[in-house]
Amino acid sequence: MNELNIEKLNEILIHQSKLASLGEMIANIAHQWRQPIAELNAILMNIKTANRFSDLSSEKLEQKLDDAEDLLVYMSNTIEDFRNFFSIDKKKDYFSLQNCINKTLNILKSSFKQHHIEVFVDEFEDINIYGYANEFSTVLLNLLANAKDVAIERKIKRAKISIKIFNSNNIKKISIIDNCGGVKVEPIEKIFEPYYTTKPSNIGTGIGLYICKNIIKNRFSSEIDVKNLKNGAKFTISLKNCF
Ligand SMILES: Nc1ncnc2c1ncn2[C@@H]1O[C@H](COP(=O)(O)OP(=O)(O)OP(=O)(O)O)[C@@H](O)[C@H]1O
Ligand SMILES: [Mg+2]
Repeated sequence: MNELNIEKLNEILIHQSKLASLGEMIANIAHQWRQPIAELNAILMNIKTANRFSDLSSEKLEQKLDDAEDLLVYMSNTIEDFRNFFSIDKKKDYFSLQNCINKTLNILKSSFKQHHIEVFVDEFEDINIYGYANEFSTVLLNLLANAKDVAIERKIKRAKISIKIFNSNNIKKISIIDNCGGVKVEPIEKIFEPYYTTKPSNIGTGIGLYICKNIIKNRFSSEIDVKNLKNGAKFTISLKNCF
């Protein structure tokens, strides 16, 4: 078989394996929409209550509508990701890590506020990553939402999430560290398996970390791992070959 045919065959195989995971991708979208839908609901409730108590200034309304718009953009991008997954020649692009972190934190900001969870992002020199920004955002969103869920479930006082970025050789490491008591599962890697959850079935499906691992491994050719520190869990994304 000549080189061109092998390439074509590879493309077809990749395409078929993607088709096979259609069901999985639909589950992914449903999973990724849960958080923004909850946030949109909170925003609407907030507007409604403020209006009922005649406390809805036009600035406040404007701010809430902007927040809602950001959430809708994220949701619509998630569908876009889904479509990219099926097209072979969709081009990747560079995106700023700083922007990606900011956008992701925006999606979660009202529920962090509601549950008094503080998030700290250590200062770092911004880098451009090659890939799909929304997919990376999905990974961060899952890790942050998990830390939030644990903080709520374990009623952690002064819950804190830190995001730290550092260099080691040619690898960029992005760590998300919480102070919520750590992962109580053995072996710890089990949490990356599909449908593994310690949450009640109406709350968790157990696919969040599986999605993260998939995206980091297959879309960024990189790695994600977890370990427990003294007070909580530390998830680290080690990015290589995607700058
Ligand atoms: N920051 C964390 N601290 C402690 N345990 C964690 C943390 N993040 C994840 N876990 C554990 O890993 C399990 C799997 O997480 P995963 O995101 O895959 O699924 P889930 O959050 O349970 O459900 P879903 O994300 O589908 O709603 C969780 O149920 C929880 O037990
Ligand atoms: Mg989760």
